[in-house]
Amino acid sequence: MKLPNGPQYPALVQKLQWILSPMSFMEACAQRYGDIFTMQLNEPMVFVSNPQALQQILTSDTKEFTAPSDRNTAFEPMLGKNSLITISGEVHRRQRQLLMPPLHGDRMRTYGQVINDVTEQVISQWQVGKSFCVHSAMQLITMRVIMQAVFGLYEGLRAQELEEILAAMLNETSPWRVIQLYFPALQKDFGPKSSWGKFIRRRERVHQLLNAEIQERRDQPDSSRTDILSLLMAARDEAGRPMTDAELCDELMTLLVAGHETTATALTWALYWIHKFPSVREKLVQELDSLGDHPDCNSIFKAPYLNAVYCETLRIYPVAMLTFPRVVKTPVSLCGYKLEPNTVVMGSIYLTHQREDLYPEPQQFKPERFLERQFSPYEFLPFGGGVRRCIGMAFAQFEMKVVLAKILTSQELALVDDRDMPPKRRGLVTAPARPIQMVVKSQREAKSRTLETSTK
Ligand code: HEM
Repeated sequence: MKLPNGPQYPALVQKLQWILSPMSFMEACAQRYGDIFTMQLNEPMVFVSNPQALQQILTSDTKEFTAPSDRNTAFEPMLGKNSLITISGEVHRRQRQLLMPPLHGDRMRTYGQVINDVTEQVISQWQVGKSFCVHSAMQLITMRVIMQAVFGLYEGLRAQELEEILAAMLNETSPWRVIQLYFPALQKDFGPKSSWGKFIRRRERVHQLLNAEIQERRDQPDSSRTDILSLLMAARDEAGRPMTDAELCDELMTLLVAGHETTATALTWALYWIHKFPSVREKLVQELDSLGDHPDCNSIFKAPYLNAVYCETLRIYPVAMLTFPRVVKTPVSLCGYKLEPNTVVMGSIYLTHQREDLYPEPQQFKPERFLERQFSPYEFLPFGGGVRRCIGMAFAQFEMKVVLAKILTSQELALVDDRDMPPKRRGLVTAPARPIQMVVKSQREAKSRTLETSTK
């Protein structure tokens, strides 16, 4: 079998390049080899950024391709073996069915008030003339929102400790930690002060706190609760079995981790772009002001320019650079290459979003592109697609829009430093290369806007 072309130098060098500067490595490969090429990482991996090929992969990812869990091992130390991300096949399908309803449809309405209140809490700490770190503020918002969605109203010492330890675990994003994730042999516990030792002790404590919460709910059942944990505990599979404690614990960890850092990073980028270009901010504020003093979540969700800014933010530097790996199941022809079973294929979200033929001047932030034309789910795919498409997509989209609306209608902010901001790998996400600081110029109005949570 002849794989698509790609760099010929040693696999170890390619792997280090991938870990340290993934975007420029992908760009260099695309420039030289086109929209399908092979990188040598743990094994040969075919990177794809051709929309027709992506459609083929993502629409037949149970027939010609599979979305196996054994290629997602980098997530296992953090999320466990029972996470939606680390399971596959029939078990994965059933688990997705359990997790989808609380993250979709009418349920969004109930989260509107939570998102609004949490954002209000966080921005009430900002002071005129003072600067703050945007990423830390966004992390606090998204962490509290996902905690409340998962556990319901959640206060007290256990909630506080959980919030603190998870934040500490997720803020450990040094290149060394990423190298450890890619090289399991380096995952060694050399005591509580060592990098991996710290990680496993924190993880142990998080598991204790989650299990204490599960146990308390088993001892004192309350059928009126509608939070995600209660729904998961009440769920039964086709044989009438409930989820085990180990399954519950890993799924909670998955939602808390996946539902928090990705959205916080996307919000940080959005605030950067909006304030980098005063005309973008002006247009957005005008649109949001026109929705009235108490806009309902539906109007915010549908506001066209806000939607365009949200899409362009996730296009230019997609928080997730890649889809999860797919593996060829039966011999297929992809972009003219005959791929044999077991070939690993990655959808490069980043390179697809940088295609000049789809997005002229792809390095420019231009929300108008999303007003001028519609892109297919294989041209614009910040949440991946197919059987592993992000289950938090609706939740993240809703949360980002409500948080941005709340901030922009109540605060006048400015970037402390408006130099161009390149992207950089931060753990497993694409984040700004330097911390972004903003300053509060003024509060836009004394009566802070509230969100009307009924939908019309
Ligand atoms: C801006 C925010 C987010 C982005 C950009 C994002 C992106 C992605 C991407 C690209 C995938 C892989 C899809 C594929 O391989 O086809 C994914 C999967 C996943 N995401 Fe998200 N995500 C975000 C927010 C969230 C939130 C809020 C949650 C949970 C509340 C979440 C939970 C998950 C889970 C559990 C999976 C695995 C799905 C599976 O394997 O079936 N994500 N996400």
